[in-house]
Amino acid sequence: MAREFTRVGVVGLGTMGAGIVEVFARNGIDVVAVEISPTALERGRATLTGSTDRAVARGKLAEADRDALLSRVDFQVGLDALHSVDLVVEAVPEHLDLKQRIFAELDRVCKPEAILATNTSSLSVTEISVATTRPNQVIGIHFFNPAPVMKLVEVVRTVVTSADVVADVEALCERLGKVDVTISDRAGFIANALLFGYLNHAVSMFEARYATREDIDAAMKLGCGLPMGPLALMDLIGLDTAYEILDTMYRRGGRDRRHAPVPLIKQMVTAGLLGRKSGRGFYTYERPGSPVVVPDEQTPVATGAALADGARAIAKVGVVGSGTMATGIIEVFAKAGYEVISVTRGAEKSAKVCETVKTSLNKGVVRGKLSEADRDAALGRVTWSATLEHLVDVDLVVEAVVEELSVKKALFASLDEICKPGVVLATTTSSLPVIDVAMATQRPADVIGLHFFNPAPIMPLVEIVQTIRTSAETTATARAVCAALGKTGVVCGDRSGFIVNALLFPYLNDAVKMLEASYSTADDIDHAMKLGCGYPMGPFELLDVVGLDVSLAIQRELYLELREPGFAPAPLLEHLVTAGYLGRKSGRGFRDHTNR
Ligand SMILES: NC(=O)c1ccc[n+]([C@@H]2O[C@H](COP(=O)([O-])OP(=O)(O)OC[C@H]3O[C@@H](n4cnc5c(N)ncnc54)[C@H](O)[C@@H]3O)[C@@H](O)[C@H]2O)c1
Repeated sequence: MAREFTRVGVVGLGTMGAGIVEVFARNGIDVVAVEISPTALERGRATLTGSTDRAVARGKLAEADRDALLSRVDFQVGLDALHSVDLVVEAVPEHLDLKQRIFAELDRVCKPEAILATNTSSLSVTEISVATTRPNQVIGIHFFNPAPVMKLVEVVRTVVTSADVVADVEALCERLGKVDVTISDRAGFIANALLFGYLNHAVSMFEARYATREDIDAAMKLGCGLPMGPLALMDLIGLDTAYEILDTMYRRGGRDRRHAPVPLIKQMVTAGLLGRKSGRGFYTYERPGSPVVVPDEQTPVATGAALADGARAIAKVGVVGSGTMATGIIEVFAKAGYEVISVTRGAEKSAKVCETVKTSLNKGVVRGKLSEADRDAALGRVTWSATLEHLVDVDLVVEAVVEELSVKKALFASLDEICKPGVVLATTTSSLPVIDVAMATQRPADVIGLHFFNPAPIMPLVEIVQTIRTSAETTATARAVCAALGKTGVVCGDRSGFIVNALLFPYLNDAVKMLEASYSTADDIDHAMKLGCGYPMGPFELLDVVGLDVSLAIQRELYLELREPGFAPAPLLEHLVTAGYLGRKSGRGFRDHTNR
């Protein structure tokens, strides 16, 4: 029989604590909510009422239920108020000495049978537990932000946590409507160990001015379907908390440089730019605690102004190639009203590409997304050719041929001979340096990367890759073209993986390393990222879809170019590829897909 929890305590009503109070009170449990001072208590109370009022306004909570919820919460200053609770969840700032002091005090104040839990994200639960005389009743209950929304709870058992306590807390999580994964005491547990390397890396891109905050965030939302971009997420977590988590993970987790906090984070914390809670972090908010972003000096001007930046007028576009990307890109341009010349290596290939574009447009008609007239007009705009010389008077060329540098270089040298001056020459490469392609021409200022995502007609993102020789007009033209295509163009530097792959694949690789270290299972890791961070797929699901060979190749490129030790491909990934376990396409990757 699991223990009944009728009255619990929450210590610290900040970003996490106020949400944790809401979770308990919503589920009929009485809560003693404790803060350090009357001011902090009022702030915590305001966070809770703000959140429940929003739930009422959205029709997610009845007014009577909100009133009942609030009546279950007893707001108090000081830990003495916790003498009669069955469980305490501590959610004070991420400092070991502070948490140890609080646990020693809780041990003194609370009933002998009470369970003492910490919401720490990165500190050692074991080290916190030894500040008490009951380490076997100390456990980690790690909620995710925002606690009332995110389904995951990581239950962290130390080597001395008693099995009963673990079982009781697991049953409690179920009662709260949460999904728990129970794991041992390792820095960052599952989700943060995988999330924070990625967040830190995104901050380093921003710090290096590799891309703007808006572009980094848009890239990860639109390219990977994440609910938030990494910099907006840092603001939600709180930069002070994020700093402490990274710092602890770096020190506890084997000094992985991926977790060494990027200097900018510390500077922002020192300057009081803590994120949403202080009203300013990477973005500026309406007021402290508000989720509403307001424009500031970094906010980009509307894309309509792009032409004023010297963007060239583009009417006629050449698309070179006959594969999946080329086909999709032809469709995108033709639908957007551009005149398109498709160039392949022969009439047979052109016929095939034409057929594929037609089929895809017809699907649009069947689904009611495109009228027959618009389909016919789009097709009417395309000229099918097998001769590069036909590109003599186009304004923009998009190259989407095989991913081999020698082939692309030869093609760009030819384009340089054929095309009129002032043409923008774009490559869709996803892994080769754009500058290598640019230097095959006499006009590197006009060469840029336009990295479309697959399937091009559907994916809303294009990475605009500028080399150190790309001119401002060329970039402005690329931006204007993306906007005219209805895509979000994000501008970044010419580094391996651009934005999306550079941030995504090291995270996937970290997940493989975690599995390899037997810290958790593929199922639990996938669960943790989906339910704790709102990712559309877990890392192993995604690896199986992308293909393990493709993932390994990208990871190798990143490692070779950046020489970051933490980017070294996980041996398990190499072994699976060697064994022919490539993911869905081969029937088996991290999971067996033959019977699914
Ligand atoms: N922010 C996140 O996204 C997130 C997610 C999961 C877990 N966590 C963890 O939750 C914990 C709290 O983080 P946070 O982001 O909510 O911090 P926060 O700074 O937003 O809130 C901490 C609160 O603790 C209060 N406090 C400080 N000393 C206290 C004391 N002696 N007694 C009572 N209250 C005291 C502060 O007044 C403040 O309101 C940390 O361990 C953090 O790692 C944070």
